Amino acid sequence: MPLRSRIAGTGMSVGNRVVTNAEMTQWMDTSEEWIEQRTGIKERRWIDETQRPSTLAAEATNQALEQAGLEVGDIDCILLATLSGEHDFPGTSFFLHELIDAGDIPCVDLRAQCSGFLYALQMGDALIQTGSHKRVLVVGAEVHSTGLDISTEGRDVTVIFGDGAGATLLEAVEAEADGPGVLQIRCHAQGKHARRLWTEGPSSARHPHRIDEQALAEKKHFPHMEGRFVFKHAVTRMPEVLLETLGGASLELDDVDLFLFHQANLRINEAVAQRLEIPKEKVRNNIERLGNCSAGALPILLAEASRDGSLQPGQLVSLTAFGSGFTWASAVVRWG
Ligand code: UT7
Repeated sequence: MPLRSRIAGTGMSVGNRVVTNAEMTQWMDTSEEWIEQRTGIKERRWIDETQRPSTLAAEATNQALEQAGLEVGDIDCILLATLSGEHDFPGTSFFLHELIDAGDIPCVDLRAQCSGFLYALQMGDALIQTGSHKRVLVVGAEVHSTGLDISTEGRDVTVIFGDGAGATLLEAVEAEADGPGVLQIRCHAQGKHARRLWTEGPSSARHPHRIDEQALAEKKHFPHMEGRFVFKHAVTRMPEVLLETLGGASLELDDVDLFLFHQANLRINEAVAQRLEIPKEKVRNNIERLGNCSAGALPILLAEASRDGSLQPGQLVSLTAFGSGFTWASAVVRWG
């Protein structure tokens, strides 16, 4: 019988520091009302000095292992999605590998920004379907806060980002008709929009040094975004890929019990739900508490939903993301 990836465990970890909208008003020309009305965010979590991307990822991983009743030695491979690597190289996955003492199993970082978790899930799922790997750890981990322009110039981007990681442990199971597992994943990209949401430096394309005084003065080391352009694409691409993915699994919107969307802006998610006529009670958000944790957002939502009983065995959960690249992707999973 063909194989499928069951999500056997989930975990999450966020920054220790609660950063409220009121705190933002001390650094930049903004208001609590603007942030909440335009984004839905009330507060976000940023790391303190004791945390880094790999410590967030390790905490999430340990929870996922515990939920699955497994040990580190049971994992065959680690895939970690991030846009905020702990160092230039090697990838954050290697520092996670060190922290959890993963022996000599392979690990690798994937860079597909806010859709990164779904890209990594697709690759982990493919490894499992070939039969070569039994258990794959798929993590999304971000620390944005140490790379943001907290002055008024950076206010559009800075107010939306939070720090957090989520982990899922994929396990090979036989693909039974109504059995649990990842049923379908679709990923897309359009590199022609890469510069619409990006952090230009440090850059290996810059001569003679990757970063210099001029680049710092021009704030090339901070993220820049054409917010409205990104917003418009997100509300078009997310419904498209969600429907494409459900269609690939011969499912209808009504079959889905829970919809999880990337957490970039509550208004994006409300617009997507409205376009697809998805009832509010079927959508779960956490952006009001956590902000936008990019690749961490969807696995954190999954961990929360699987822990508070919102996701029951046999139910169908749909996950959809849009982000820098541009990238967009969707997955549908039968829980259990
Ligand atoms: O995670 C990856 C994908 N990312 C996204 O999907 C994000 C998509 N974009 C967005 O969520 C929104 O575009 C933002 C939240 C980033 C910005 O909201 P917006 O409603 O699109 O605002 P805008 O950029 O069109 O700016 C409207 C006004 C501008 O002022 P003027 O030119 O009209 O005077 C901005 O300068 O709001 C101003 N503004 C702010 N004002 C107070 C922008 N950011 C802020 C701020 N506080 N933080």
